[in-house]
Amino acid sequence: MLRGMRQLLRRKPIADLAPEGHEGEGQMKRTLGAWDLIFLAIGAVIGAGIFGAVGTAAAGEIHDGEVVRAGAGPGLVVSFILLGVVCGLCALCYAELASMIPQAGSAYAYTYATLGELVAWIIGWDLILEYAVGNVAVAISWGNYFGTLLEAFGIHLPAWLAHGYGDVVQQAAAGNTDMQALLENAPMVAGIPVLVNLPAFVIVLAVTWILLLGAKESATVNNVMVIVKLIVLALFIGVGATQIDTHHYTPFFPNGFTGVWQGAAIVFFAYIGFDAISTAAEETKNPQRNMPIGILGGLAICTVVYVLTGLVLTGLAPWQELNQHGDPLAFALENVGLPVAGWIVSAGAVIALSAVLLVFQYGQPRILFAMARDGLLPEQAAKLHPKYRTPWLLTMGTGGLVALGSLVVDDDATYDLTNIGTLFAFFLVCLGVMVLRVVDPDRKRPFRVPFVWGVAPLGAAACVFTMAGLPPMAWERFGIWLAIGLVVYFAYGYHRSKLRSATS
Ligand code: ALA
Repeated sequence: MLRGMRQLLRRKPIADLAPEGHEGEGQMKRTLGAWDLIFLAIGAVIGAGIFGAVGTAAAGEIHDGEVVRAGAGPGLVVSFILLGVVCGLCALCYAELASMIPQAGSAYAYTYATLGELVAWIIGWDLILEYAVGNVAVAISWGNYFGTLLEAFGIHLPAWLAHGYGDVVQQAAAGNTDMQALLENAPMVAGIPVLVNLPAFVIVLAVTWILLLGAKESATVNNVMVIVKLIVLALFIGVGATQIDTHHYTPFFPNGFTGVWQGAAIVFFAYIGFDAISTAAEETKNPQRNMPIGILGGLAICTVVYVLTGLVLTGLAPWQELNQHGDPLAFALENVGLPVAGWIVSAGAVIALSAVLLVFQYGQPRILFAMARDGLLPEQAAKLHPKYRTPWLLTMGTGGLVALGSLVVDDDATYDLTNIGTLFAFFLVCLGVMVLRVVDPDRKRPFRVPFVWGVAPLGAAACVFTMAGLPPMAWERFGIWLAIGLVVYFAYGYHRSKLRSATS
């Protein structure tokens, strides 16, 4: 009994964590400066959150007459500013752990070293929500903008091939008459309406195939993507600003602070990805100076872009209407008679979202890989492809599940689940920093969180507060997901853990 408890709390020594990184021989080269980090951050962050979730954050969600979440309305800009602060606090904590524990596996590896095996497993399991489930949402948003782009060329996909079942049911319950008609008139198989988001499905398979061939995130591609994203959003802001109707700004806070808070809880998705840049700490020149500049600078730029986008978006259409289309930015431009600008934004969104898909679809198998290497998942799953040297089984498994999910589920529910999982991971990282400062104060920290006893507890509290803004359904699903994870752990990883066999 006591021995079992000890294993749950057993921490993987940091010395073991550092050298076994499969990619690093000795020290990595320190080549990145503050601007490189800022570019990395923007590349990982701008995606479906600002192109898709922003509509639900502004409009809120009503299901069969019941308010699921209150909309922020134009007050969305305040949601963005608050989220910038929350993410800044967490990203600093990530950076300290990443620089101490530079290894594949991200927060999973950090918690193994700080809070023990059970919490590490929970985090690894939880990161599936951030990466794989998050990618379902990105793929759905990709599909929506792709559909608008096809229309620019006069190609109209049948509606039942462009909308997943979950999405149609959700929109119909919210009173969208087009979706109610679609639900009734879709082709039926065995009494079930066939409603699928085919473009989303196909893009995930395509990305998976590219990754199987061994594509890597490359700095040049990332820089091009960042420029595309910024140009497209600048176009939206610049062109849209000329058409703002200030009547849409009254009232500015239609649902008071509740709207700002619950809107923030879903549009948090727009900030996910900051954790990714903290992992570059070991390759950063003078990390103590450049890490905070990179993280906070990148966050500041994204926050400014998001605030301006939110301000223009809510000035182009009534805030209540922004959740009726999966492509709110294109819809808002069309609403003021600028369909061509809407098409250009759609083309940019398709490119930007492909990049996000690639990064996340790349990350997920590598986190699972780290877990399998520690014996918490079957090691056979982590086999590398003999020719391409990629974790092909994990890559294909992730791709298959994400593709199936994007075919049928509802994007809002997916944003919620991703956000709750990611915020929980952020929360544990903030705790982890504090734990390590106490239990291992002398270890070398290439980057130290400034004012850690203010920053880390505030970051942890801010995560919990943001999570509390998500609907009860998200909490239920999160609870079920964690419960399944615990069953899997006690049925498998608990017995097979390498740390257990090494110490028994
Ligand atoms: N922040 C990323 C996005 O919005 C996940 O797509």
